Formats: sequence, structure tokens, C-alpha cells
Amino acid sequence: MEPKPNRRDFVKLGLFAGTPLALGVTPSLAIGQLGMDEQEALSFFETVRTRRSVRQFKSTPVPEAHLREILDAARLAPTSGNQQPWKFLVVQDPGTIGELTDAMVARGLETMRARGVEVTAEVEESVRASLTQGYLSAPVYIVVLTDGESQYPTYNHWDGPLAAGYLMLAARALGYGTVFITDAIPDEVTREVFDIPDRYTRVCITPLGVPEAWPDSPEKKSLDEFIVQDRFSQATPGHS
Ligand SMILES: Cc1cc2nc3c(=O)[nH]c(=O)nc-3n(C[C@H](O)[C@H](O)[C@H](O)COP(=O)(O)O)c2cc1C
Repeated sequence: MEPKPNRRDFVKLGLFAGTPLALGVTPSLAIGQLGMDEQEALSFFETVRTRRSVRQFKSTPVPEAHLREILDAARLAPTSGNQQPWKFLVVQDPGTIGELTDAMVARGLETMRARGVEVTAEVEESVRASLTQGYLSAPVYIVVLTDGESQYPTYNHWDGPLAAGYLMLAARALGYGTVFITDAIPDEVTREVFDIPDRYTRVCITPLGVPEAWPDSPEKKSLDEFIVQDRFSQATPGHS
């Protein structure tokens, strides 16, 4: 006889209340590409609560099956008119990541020179180290792009970030960190290093990897600060 799920499994699988699991039957549902039980991934709400922007990674490789599962979650995000206007550029080749690093170092040094800093070999080494121990320490980078030649290109700016959000949550559920990077790795740098054609707009680039550590949450506003009940004109005093 299959062992019954323990209480923790029920908590983790809270979303599946009402499925045969809630009746004490072993789940046969499996995550798409992985064939893994839900127990091996975090529950939805645990995932949402514990996702963090991660900026330092271990070199541990990301198995292909995990990578595909994460991208598959992004693929399932809603889009305007179901147009699905994305490209997910996946960068894993260490040589290519090295080129991105070189481009970022060159850019950093250029900025320093423009500010009058004398750029010595030591300065260059410290700029490189701060990048390779930070944003550029991950084994995988994903550039989320939308296609300007999609069916409804004026809606791409909604569709793009939704896929990125799904991707980041799926990564967290499987134990990986991400961060929605915009300015820290400028668009023009990724465009040049990765030969991104003009028709694609970059939504973000995210590293993907096992976090060196999960950061504490930055301070978040309370839920009540966001809620407006029924109409703005009847909002509680102090809330607008
Ligand atoms: C539109 C957008 C742009 C962002 N750009 C950057 C960035 O360039 N560099 C960076 O380190 N983090 C960037 N972030 C991540 C935010 O700093 C982070 O989400 C925020 O501080 C909240 O932290 P949390 O993600 O851990 O909840 C960006 C996030 C969003 C949504």
C-alpha cells in the first residue's frame, strides 16, 4: 500500500485540496517535463512568499529538465489574444557568458575613466571580481524578449513581464534564484553580445542558478496599502 501523505505534504499541497490527494489518495499528477511529484517542488503560496531577487549564485549546473520546466511555465503565461509573442534566449555557454562579463567590465571601466578614475590592472581586477561574484556568477542566463512582429505588438509590454514573472516563480519552486535585471546589465550590452535582432524587445535578463544564500526580503508594503474598496471616492481616510 502507498504511504499516506503526511500533514506537511497536505500543507505543501494545499492548492490541491479537492483533488484525490485531499481524500488521502496518492497523487498521480506530475509536473510537466520533469515527471516529478509536486512534493518535490514548493507549493504555490510558499513559492510566491519565498521568491527573492538573487544576485549571487553557486556554480552548480541547472539540469536541462529543470531549465525546460521553468521555461515551460513561462510559455503558459497569459497573453493578449493568445499571441505568445516571446523568445526565451538561453545562455549557458561559458564562453558566451565570459563575453558578457568582458563587455560589462569594459563598460564599468569606461564609466570610471569618464569620472576621472585611474584604471589600473588592480581596478580592472576588482571590477571583474565584483561582477563574477555577483550578477555574473550564475551558470545560466535567460533573456526574455518580445517580438515586434507579433500579432498585437502594442500589447507586448503586458505579455512580456507576465512570462518573466511565471519564469521566476517556477525557478523558485524548483530551488533556483533569479532577478529581473534591467539597468544593471544594459539592453545594448546583451543586444550586442548575444546578436539580438532589432525586431525583439528585451523585457529583462535574469541569471538562473542555485543561490549562494537566499536574501532576506526587502521591506514590503502591507496589503492594506494596496486595497481600495469598491470606489476611490469611498476610500478609507488616509488611503487614497
Ligand atoms: C522592472 C524591474 C526592474 C528591475 N531592475 C533591476 C536591475 O536592473 N537590477 C537589479 O539588481 N534588480 C532589478 N530589479 C529587482 C528589484 O530590485 C527587486 O524585485 C526588488 O528590490 C524587490 O525585491 P524582491 O524581488 O526580492 O522581492 C528589477 C525589478 C523589476 C520588476
